[in-house]
Amino acid sequence: MFNSSELAKQFDRGEEVAISFQYVNKEIEIDVNSLLSKVLSRLDKGYLYDTLVSVFRELIQNGIKANMKRVWFEAGNLDINDMGDYRKGMEKFREVAYHPEVMRDQLRDSRYRVTLKMRNREGGLDVSVVNNARVLPGELERIRYRMRKALEWNNFVEAYENMYDATEGAGLGIILSVMLLKNAGLDAEVFNVIPDEGSMTISLRIPPELKSIEITSSIKSQILEDVNSLPTFPENVLELRQLCDNPETTIDTISEKISLDPALAADVLKLSNSAGFISGKRITKISQAVMIIGLKNLNSMLTAAALRKIMDKRYRKFEQIWEHCNRTAYYARQIAMEVGYGKVVDIAYIAGLLHDIGKIVLLSTDARLLNQISDIVNDRKIRTSSIIEEISIGISHSAIGALIADKWNFPEELVEAVRYHHAPLAPNIRHREVVMVVYLANQLCILESKEMDPLFIESEVLDKLSITSRTAFEKFVTRLQNRYDMHEQFLLKYMP
Ligand SMILES: [Fe+2]
Ligand SMILES: [Fe+2]
Repeated sequence: MFNSSELAKQFDRGEEVAISFQYVNKEIEIDVNSLLSKVLSRLDKGYLYDTLVSVFRELIQNGIKANMKRVWFEAGNLDINDMGDYRKGMEKFREVAYHPEVMRDQLRDSRYRVTLKMRNREGGLDVSVVNNARVLPGELERIRYRMRKALEWNNFVEAYENMYDATEGAGLGIILSVMLLKNAGLDAEVFNVIPDEGSMTISLRIPPELKSIEITSSIKSQILEDVNSLPTFPENVLELRQLCDNPETTIDTISEKISLDPALAADVLKLSNSAGFISGKRITKISQAVMIIGLKNLNSMLTAAALRKIMDKRYRKFEQIWEHCNRTAYYARQIAMEVGYGKVVDIAYIAGLLHDIGKIVLLSTDARLLNQISDIVNDRKIRTSSIIEEISIGISHSAIGALIADKWNFPEELVEAVRYHHAPLAPNIRHREVVMVVYLANQLCILESKEMDPLFIESEVLDKLSITSRTAFEKFVTRLQNRYDMHEQFLLKYMP
């Protein structure tokens, strides 16, 4: 379709970059996203990618839908400016609007197109989406009404519940876009709607500096209180973890310490006799058990067990989330080794185990709301639930997880890995290595379970991790998956 690298060069020269299309399919979407990612990395604003992918998608689709409407009226010999004809045409069009693919050929043969334009102006980004069809007064009024409304609501769920049944469903897209941009730190009135004789433009300016805006909801404060009242992390486990990390620690010291806690001692024995560690005989002594498990495994196992005990006591058991966390942890450790980040191997593992605990809190607090959020995410093909959680609740599962990790006095890099596991390109990350590793591990797990497009993995992250050959990396991932499925689930299965 178009060459995004060429266009990016044009962008670098300060020229306006423009791409036009008559309909959207997956290839076009990928092209647009890849151009966006190049443009944002040049402006040092990679962290806006998820937000802008969704905003662009909504704006472009609104434009295509408006064009489809015109093609539909013309094909039916109906006058779109005539009240009676309009009502008649819209009755059937509403059904068609949900299936743009049926009108693809007609759109391609029509004179209507949507043009996306971008330009670097003084370090900020000027964006506009132009439709070469005259907007109807009613349509314009609706767009403006929704933009106004979007500024009134406190969060997206309020908007969603109030607007869902509204006619001409496109309205939600505009509200979603305004809220996403607000959440990303853009001024309230971000869009400019410019109607013209033969076209309509929606423009948007992203300034070089963004200031964040707080989104509130009643459940946010409930969650914060709840997290605040979580028990502290068991002191003896923290001490044992430090002992495991210390190269001078002997098996005997550790074993003695474990023996002081009967419940812990039983867990360690149980684990050493599990299928993951085949020793050929029944282990009954703690020191033998520690030797078989190994200090590194013991460290992760102790953390995992303590973690689950606290969470399971407080919240419902969400096996699926734990299974996912366990897999992410394993992948994170292997990826860290593969890319040569030896120093973060262990922390990446623990971060993987912890990364989604915020989801457990959210699900336990308001499962209905969380389901609604996941509907929105699937419906509108949003790449990460975090940004929708932010605009709906005011806090994401990643931020909640980070609060918990912080409360439990886990090291800073671990807290960061949890906080940014969906936003590895966010500014001001201090421990980007472990963040990227956990991001990639999580992304691979999501890919596996939903068979998402591999292009959804941030190419900038792959570059930074020096993963240059996709084929070699894919082979490595297959190896990972097989090994995990064969051996590595034991930690979860045999955990107390
Ligand atoms: Fe997550
Ligand atoms: Fe996850």
